[in-house]
Amino acid sequence: MANQVVKVEHVEKIYGKKNENQSVALKDISFSMQEGEFIGIMGPSGSGKTTLLNVLSTLDRPTSGEISIAGRDITHMKNDELADFRANSLGFIFQDFNLLENLTLYENIALPLSLQDVKAKKIKERVETVAKQLGIQDILMKFPAEVSGGQKQRTAAARALVHEPAIILGDEPTGALDSKNAQGLLEAMTELNREQAVSILMVTHDPQSASYCERILFIQDGVLYKELKRTGERKAFYQEILDVLATLGADQDGE
Ligand SMILES: Nc1ncnc2c1ncn2[C@@H]1O[C@H](COP(=O)(O)OP(=O)(O)O)[C@@H](O)[C@H]1O
Ligand SMILES: [Mg+2]
Repeated sequence: MANQVVKVEHVEKIYGKKNENQSVALKDISFSMQEGEFIGIMGPSGSGKTTLLNVLSTLDRPTSGEISIAGRDITHMKNDELADFRANSLGFIFQDFNLLENLTLYENIALPLSLQDVKAKKIKERVETVAKQLGIQDILMKFPAEVSGGQKQRTAAARALVHEPAIILGDEPTGALDSKNAQGLLEAMTELNREQAVSILMVTHDPQSASYCERILFIQDGVLYKELKRTGERKAFYQEILDVLATLGADQDGE
């Protein structure tokens, strides 16, 4: 059996101090993710998706409950340990790419390794490998302003992958892309997932993007509401996703 890459147990997140206006964003969330899975998180606006991603990303701490990633308990780590863990074991893809404009694509991708004192030769090997996997090996000397949105997002995906993290976390990774570029990125992510067994967890409000996942967790009002597993064709899965979203109400997240 594959190893668990993520284990979330009874996680609760309450914003605001006691005796003030508190907002309960996550209530008793538990789930686990096997190594090599591709999971989507969906749910209406305000349901707790970003909060869940933030506590998994170690950018925020849960109020109670436990989270372990790649066998490490992140709920009880000190801040400096967390920073190291984040740098070594997690990869992020955000909606707005977050590339540095005055660095080339090569330098952007290399950044997580450059920050870790990896030798130049090893960096070159890794950057070339991931660039090839994402089909951007011929534009590495360009700057972000010189390439398309889709190519920028592939660069961000390569950067998320270059240090071989235990998991890639995405917050609406296709949110700023047109449908053709979104499809290209999702196909590249699917290939990484299938061929290199990269574990991916992404938040998305887009059912088309979600249909590339193997499993989808739907949250509503901070609780896990439903889980869907893909068993067949992507098209059929897309329809199943639409059916669940219809039961969740019409206020789908438009972020
Ligand atoms: N920093 C914060 N302070 C107080 N309340 C927050 C904060 N962030 C989110 N919330 C509240 O927590 C709930 C979940 O928000 P969020 O995780 O952003 O949902 P989603 O990403 O699904 O739209 C919402 O009710 C939101 O208003
Ligand atoms: Mg959100």
